[in-house]
Amino acid sequence: MKILSIETSCDDTAISILECKGGFKKPSFQVLANFSNSQIKIHAPHGGVYPMLAKREHIKNLPILFKKTLEKAKLDKKEKPVDAIAVTYGPGLEIALWTGITFAKGLAKKWNVPLVPVNHMEGHIFSVFGKHKGKFKINLSRNMSPMLALLVSGGHTELILIKDFAKYKIIGETLDDAAGEAYDKVARMLGLPYPGGPKISKLAEEERAKEKQSLRGVSQADGPRGSAPRVRGDSDPEKISFSVVLPRPMIYSKNFNFSFSGLKTAVLYLIKKIGPPRLASGEAGKLNEETKSKIALEFENAVIDVLVYKTMKAKEKYKAKTIIVAGGVACNKHLKRQIKKATDKDIKLFFPEKELTTDNSIMIGMAGYLQFSKNNKKSSKLSDIKAEGNLRFR
Ligand code: KG4
Ligand code: ZN
Repeated sequence: MKILSIETSCDDTAISILECKGGFKKPSFQVLANFSNSQIKIHAPHGGVYPMLAKREHIKNLPILFKKTLEKAKLDKKEKPVDAIAVTYGPGLEIALWTGITFAKGLAKKWNVPLVPVNHMEGHIFSVFGKHKGKFKINLSRNMSPMLALLVSGGHTELILIKDFAKYKIIGETLDDAAGEAYDKVARMLGLPYPGGPKISKLAEEERAKEKQSLRGVSQADGPRGSAPRVRGDSDPEKISFSVVLPRPMIYSKNFNFSFSGLKTAVLYLIKKIGPPRLASGEAGKLNEETKSKIALEFENAVIDVLVYKTMKAKEKYKAKTIIVAGGVACNKHLKRQIKKATDKDIKLFFPEKELTTDNSIMIGMAGYLQFSKNNKKSSKLSDIKAEGNLRFR
């Protein structure tokens, strides 16, 4: 069967058509068309996603992408081009979600096909098995359960226990900021553009490589973990070199929850202590490019230390056989490296391909097809499908 899928939960408008076969037991997919439009450039001047602008852009771009998608799949001349539609109904920005849902409902009525509402986070879980083009299948027959999913994005940081496909339990989540959100906020403090994740990560990678070269394996942060931020000057006051130490919030807490807001505040205090990038005299201040890179490195180390430590603890407790890492932050090189390092060879480890780390409609089509097959092709009443900004796994 052919499924058209729509994603508009945040700042990406995306539409795909997948040819799906095999049902819930042996699902396989072929990407017939896949188009998306990122709104990053539009939101960047606001330092984050501006909901009214997101809504406006989705409304503008949905018909454009829709036309391209049908043409690419060579279905534009058909009266009923697909057999079902899948649409993200939450979590996300409610007014953005409604644009996709309203568009999808219009098509479902016109073509008289079922509409499958999809949880965006379930989509991220399935993204690790997908491809942005060509054919692929999900091998559910392997002995993979219980699985553990670390979902890390701009809006979420969650550890999900998957005892069986489509049976999810949140075992830990952030109490305040999501990991990606912390990256974005710290980037703003350092004067880096939105989205901050890729920028901080690039600075951190460069600094890590530099330190590796000069220190040869000696840990940069020599202070106790979990302590307040410090700035240490060396003996030459003219040539201050900073050794930045940030806390690892909740790393040893007895649960699997996270908290990144304190880490962000620690960076704020640190920057205040260091002083502005430029002095009133016009001279360069101490928050120069080198110091920014050091802060980026220590911040990234702090976030990834906590994510990896808690994921491994959860893996032990729940005896997980598979670890899935998904969401925008899943493309972070250090996270990938550290998770790989910490995971035994007998654990199956899945990350999405780069094109499927950020929000996309392929994952929504996959999740939609699996749900539709599992429910024996029963679908919801159109009037029952509503945007749920705070949707949680249930
Ligand atoms: O999943 P996603 O595309 O959108 C949401 O559903 O939120 O995730 C976007 C988030 C942003 O906060 C962005 O800064 C972060 O993912 N991100 C990264 C990296 N690339 C994107 N964070 C850390 N390292 C990266 N390389
Ligand atoms: Zn997402």
